[in-house]
Amino acid sequence: MRDKHPIHTTISTEALRILERYEKELGAKNTVLERALLGMDKLRFKEKVDAHTISRLIKRVNVGIPGVDALMEGGIPEGFVVVMTGPPGTGKTTFSLQYLMEGLKKDERCIFFSFEEKVEHLIKQSIRFGWDIGEYIDKGYLEIFGFTMLSTEEIIEIINVFKPKRIVFDSLNTFFNIHEFRRSSQWRSILKEIRDKKITCLAITEKRNGLEVKEYDEFDFMGDGIIFFDKSQRYEIDPYPTYYLQIQKLRITKINEMPHPFIFTEHGLELIGNRGLSRIFGGSVPSTQKTSIKDTSIKPADINSS
Ligand SMILES: Nc1ncnc2c1ncn2[C@@H]1O[C@H](COP(=O)(O)OP(=O)(O)OP(=O)(O)O)[C@@H](O)[C@H]1O
Ligand SMILES: [Mg+2]
Repeated sequence: MRDKHPIHTTISTEALRILERYEKELGAKNTVLERALLGMDKLRFKEKVDAHTISRLIKRVNVGIPGVDALMEGGIPEGFVVVMTGPPGTGKTTFSLQYLMEGLKKDERCIFFSFEEKVEHLIKQSIRFGWDIGEYIDKGYLEIFGFTMLSTEEIIEIINVFKPKRIVFDSLNTFFNIHEFRRSSQWRSILKEIRDKKITCLAITEKRNGLEVKEYDEFDFMGDGIIFFDKSQRYEIDPYPTYYLQIQKLRITKINEMPHPFIFTEHGLELIGNRGLSRIFGGSVPSTQKTSIKDTSIKPADINSS
């Protein structure tokens, strides 16, 4: 019978047999080998975890935009960085503020790093949707850094001190050189901080073209997920554009990849079809929205034809 080992592990019988054989040959205990065998056992255990078990193990973070979580198995996996991209004026900042509001409602600490807009502007934008973000700033749950160029070290220090669960960067194009971005030591240090602390981030980036053009950049490849924002005037006589969002990628998640139209309500963004349209428009539905009532998802061809 083998002596009691200094490392109290529960390695498999097979691994124990290998360990005993080597220890007999060496004439001594070998803790390094035991640790390695234990690691192999863990890997084998992971393989035995089935799809159902693993989906329960993935903790998901609600985005808080009605209708969106249902498109991605309930939310963004905790600790992921999701790229929010698209042409100007398509709802990226509003979506991100609403995402932080969802966290704040659950007493999660949140940070908004805005490299382009002033804090006052973001607060005004939030008040329009009835989000009292000033109250969360006062209580110490929300920090907004507006129109500043912070250094990487400062960003890391802020994250370390404030310990947020959710972060928004608006936008990465302002902060990083896109061509050197993925290899940049600055981004890698920030990313390490985010991953280590399991902070779920939205990183806004800019695109020159809409959904009709496939245009990928370094930011898209870095992201664990991509949500693309766009708007289009479906018919010349339409008084309003139709806004769309499309989840183009989300690692370890089954996603609905269709472009989905959304609207700006008095409470923020909401996918069309998520509730009765008459409640939103009080009976008068804009013509662009009417076209989407039957099928809330729009095929890319529809956007091309607009
Ligand atoms: N009810 C509304 N409230 C606020 N903005 C609205 C509303 N309806 C439509 N919009 C449009 O949404 C856009 C603002 O959205 P937002 O700032 O979130 O977009 P963005 O993609 O972040 O834009 P940018 O590229 O300028 O940063 C504006 O162009 C505005 O005209
Ligand atoms: Mg914006």
